[in-house]
Amino acid sequence: MHRMGIVVYLCGMYKLEARNVSVYYGTVQAIKNVTMGVARHTVTALIGPSGCGKSTFLRIFNRMNDLMDGVRVEGEVLLDGQNIYEKNVDAVELRKRVGMVFQKPNPFPKSIYENVAFGLRIQKGYKEDKIRERVETALHQAALWDEVKDDLKKSALSLSGGQQQRLCIARALAVQPSVLLMDEPTSALDPISTDKIETLIHGLKTQYTIVIVTHNMQQAGHVADKTAFFYLGELIEYEDTRKLFTTPKHELTQNYLTLRYGDMKKNG
Ligand SMILES: Nc1ncnc2c1ncn2[C@@H]1O[C@H](COP(=O)(O)OP(=O)(O)O)[C@@H](O)[C@H]1O
Ligand SMILES: [Mg+2]
Repeated sequence: MHRMGIVVYLCGMYKLEARNVSVYYGTVQAIKNVTMGVARHTVTALIGPSGCGKSTFLRIFNRMNDLMDGVRVEGEVLLDGQNIYEKNVDAVELRKRVGMVFQKPNPFPKSIYENVAFGLRIQKGYKEDKIRERVETALHQAALWDEVKDDLKKSALSLSGGQQQRLCIARALAVQPSVLLMDEPTSALDPISTDKIETLIHGLKTQYTIVIVTHNMQQAGHVADKTAFFYLGELIEYEDTRKLFTTPKHELTQNYLTLRYGDMKKNG
């Protein structure tokens, strides 16, 4: 193909794509025949009631489900057009390209510096200069540098919850993935830390493709270009966020949004 042709082809292609994906835990089907494409350099929110399959669906993109017993994934999951469930795909290599941040910040009991350097150290072959440079860049990207630059040797466990979560984001970014998966990354954090992370997510999409699970409808509204509503393992509606929130097509989506906004009002 002509070089220009390849560029056009890549631009038109989804960064991530699920095609007829079903996921089973033993005999229980948690995801039911979901097809969905995620454009590059966008933020996509996955929403829906507890147990509807958001985390399970998120984990198909870096094959985290493989690490659990009795899980079966059917269908195709494409990253840059390549099916990541093909036999020749190395899951460890894949997870360098697709980073993940979890609900509870999970820093290692090591220094701030070593937490961020971790993924590079296990890959070996990186000189200390290069590691230092990557650590600094990642901490800048995660909007944590100014708060920790004089304390890089301090234990990561001494940081606040919000700082720990940004550290985990820096740790994920240091290996230079192109996709970042986030599973309710702010649900354990205070509103100020949540706000920092939302701002951060907004900035990161110029370089990364982000998929985020959230229970917080305001958060989806703030950060996500597109939102996908799941219910009992099915993808019910997938739309531009504003459109989904203002004119949901499906009754299940309407009911869920009304309920969530109702909850927010009740809880102040
Ligand atoms: N490791 C597991 N083993 C068995 N069932 C699971 C496992 N993880 C999730 N499930 C089930 O799969 C369904 C979807 O769960 P999950 O993806 O965690 O939903 P959500 O993130 O939307 O709350 C639920 O019925 C849940 O009980
Ligand atoms: Mg979940």
